[in-house]
Amino acid sequence: MSIAVSAPGKAFLIGEYAVLEGGVALVSAIDVRAIAHAPRGAAPLPPTAVVQCAHDRVALYLEARGARVHRSAPVVETGGFTMGARKLGLGSSAAVAAAVVGYHLVHAGLDPRHPQIRIDALDLAMGAHAEAQGGGGSGADVAAAVLGGTLRFCSGTADRITPPLWLHIGFVDAGAPADTSSFVRRVRGAIRDHRSAYEAAIETLKHAADRFLEAYGSNGDPTQLLDRLRQATDAHNDGLRQLAAFSGAEIMTRPLETIIAHAREAGLAAKPSGAGGGDLVAVFAPTRAALDRYAERLYREHGFVMLSALRSAAEGLRPEARMPTNSRLSGFFKLSVEERRAQISEATGVPLDRMRDLDHGALDMHRANHMIENVVGTMELPLAIATNFQINGRDVLVPMAIEEASVVAAASNAAKMVRAGGGFTAYSDPPWMIAQVQLLAEPSSSARGPTSPLTAPEVVTAILSHREALLQAADEAHPRLVERGGGARDIEVRITAEDMVVVHAIVDCQDAMGANLLNTVAEAIAPVLERITGWTAGLRILSNLADRRCAHVRARIPPDALASKGFSGVEVVDRIVSASRFAEVDPYRATTHNKGIMNGVDAVVLATGNDWRAMEASAHAFAARDGQYRPLATWRKTEAGELEGRLSLPAAVGVVGGSTRVHPVCRLAIDLLGCTSGAELGQIIAAAGLASNLAALRALATEGIQRGHMSLHARNVALGAGAEGAEVDRLAARMIEVGEIKADRAVTLLAELRHVAPSASVGCKAPSSPVGRKATSTLG
Ligand code: MEV
Repeated sequence: MSIAVSAPGKAFLIGEYAVLEGGVALVSAIDVRAIAHAPRGAAPLPPTAVVQCAHDRVALYLEARGARVHRSAPVVETGGFTMGARKLGLGSSAAVAAAVVGYHLVHAGLDPRHPQIRIDALDLAMGAHAEAQGGGGSGADVAAAVLGGTLRFCSGTADRITPPLWLHIGFVDAGAPADTSSFVRRVRGAIRDHRSAYEAAIETLKHAADRFLEAYGSNGDPTQLLDRLRQATDAHNDGLRQLAAFSGAEIMTRPLETIIAHAREAGLAAKPSGAGGGDLVAVFAPTRAALDRYAERLYREHGFVMLSALRSAAEGLRPEARMPTNSRLSGFFKLSVEERRAQISEATGVPLDRMRDLDHGALDMHRANHMIENVVGTMELPLAIATNFQINGRDVLVPMAIEEASVVAAASNAAKMVRAGGGFTAYSDPPWMIAQVQLLAEPSSSARGPTSPLTAPEVVTAILSHREALLQAADEAHPRLVERGGGARDIEVRITAEDMVVVHAIVDCQDAMGANLLNTVAEAIAPVLERITGWTAGLRILSNLADRRCAHVRARIPPDALASKGFSGVEVVDRIVSASRFAEVDPYRATTHNKGIMNGVDAVVLATGNDWRAMEASAHAFAARDGQYRPLATWRKTEAGELEGRLSLPAAVGVVGGSTRVHPVCRLAIDLLGCTSGAELGQIIAAAGLASNLAALRALATEGIQRGHMSLHARNVALGAGAEGAEVDRLAARMIEVGEIKADRAVTLLAELRHVAPSASVGCKAPSSPVGRKATSTLG
């Protein structure tokens, strides 16, 4: 049985400097996980110092108990701790130590969630981490990794405390990496010459941590409690500025100050999480809605992103039901369908028998007949798996349903190039959608409104003055959504003509695509609007322009990974940037450019049972949002000479509801992706779009796409004719050479090939020739 055990990262909520001087800290486990599992390849890399230390210590512990000791050290995946090539300061090495200890405990048949075993695991992981790091840390990070939850930590002792229900925490990425140990060293180095300044700063920081904890542990009016938290974070930030002033360490950078000032303006509390210098800012709010509103404005005005996947108070050390996916499946395209299924099952941990859902007729007539009306049958498309994708440090195998040849191979190949630069980084807007109500200047017959008719501007004022009542009416229409953390977030009003006003209820749809619930909200607030304005409600329906719910994805590719036959990587970078500019200035090219993006996007939307018509409508409206139709993805050269691509895409997709759960193939596709939220699915879809675009531009900007298409087509025909193994490339090359890529000709040529020795003069080249495997990989 394969065993995988994971431990979470951590973030300090407060007290990160105070705890080093005997003060108290509050640390929370964050749901990015280090996952320990048995090495997959034949020759794993040698274990890192922390893995080795943890391995040795737990072996001794198990031997002393007479328990079974698993000889080889596990490998530990920490991809979730990264943003592209940058590691976030979330305590990955502590999580690694904990995960290795947990892995061996589980191997020996011990449950790391058992209270006594957990205490032992903490002891072992603390010792291993301190040994590997040469001491110095507080140990709060290891405590969070083993115990999980939120901990009050002081002088090596951790007490778990229940997070207050009134408090919502988000983490904003300040962009730059923070080097905690170098800051701490710098501050410590300056103490001798500035002892009294140091002591004053630590006093301020300790006091701030105490005040924070008092408010954190209290119940009462959230607004007042948040006010107390704000006073504590303000004091903490002052303490950090004092440390910076005497040590010269740039603890409070400009991005940190901007993010904090913005939070204060929004009435929220904020402070750097960790030693400062960059990385993450912890933001505290009384409601999820307040946090999301703040994040939305911060991103719009300053480009800083709140990383919504970083959830606090995560579970501690635990066995995982599933191994992390490995998307690097080299030679996948050469396998038979059965072999591919077996590999996918192994790489994702989804049982092989689930692959039966991919067989012909998996959507049976009974089910189909209940999905739509007048059913007479089903229509099938090929479903394939794109390999090599790594998004926010996590490998994913991407199911794509599409009839067009070369799209899947191209996306896989581009994902491999992106991987060379650290993979895709992605984030999402909150899942906000718009429910529209059209109001017309005809007196409403159904409801009593103001006595004299209102003008359009008066209608706007009247509606905005009833904002709270409207939000409440919207929430009452969907109490279950509110229970799940969603609900109405805002009311916007636009005058679209003298006699027409359009009202938008902005609704957080959580993980649903949202169409049904938005329509319900629109219908629920319409009578309230009629009462307020005296105007008549016309249409009440969602807007498919999901521009408040975008997925954003970025890729950075080193030039070497882009080099193509006869073109250096540097040339390819310049040519792709030029191709991007073409699309940016010319709508005719932008349309084709976006079509290539939608090749990837639609294929995943379709495979996962989401509404691809909505996706299409939304993407193209978004592309034309400033009046000119523009490319959804653009490419630039970074100062370091890398190619950087960015794509933002409205992503109203869900992993619950609709055909995502009714259609067996869609259900399997979502399980293969292992994604638990609509936001995560949106990011994968956006990455598939960016990858498709990269592959197309690279081919178009170099040798053109026809050659690659041709060899792929030839390969498919060769496979269809029964070619196997190395024969596939040789037969494909032969067909291209004779200029006939046809099924019947392929059969004849294959027979000829089989009668002639491989090196004999049939005229076809070796598999690595330009028309063989290599050429295919222009797009594939
Ligand atoms: C073909 O399906 C898509 C492309 O035309 C996209 C593009 O031109 O960028 C290759």
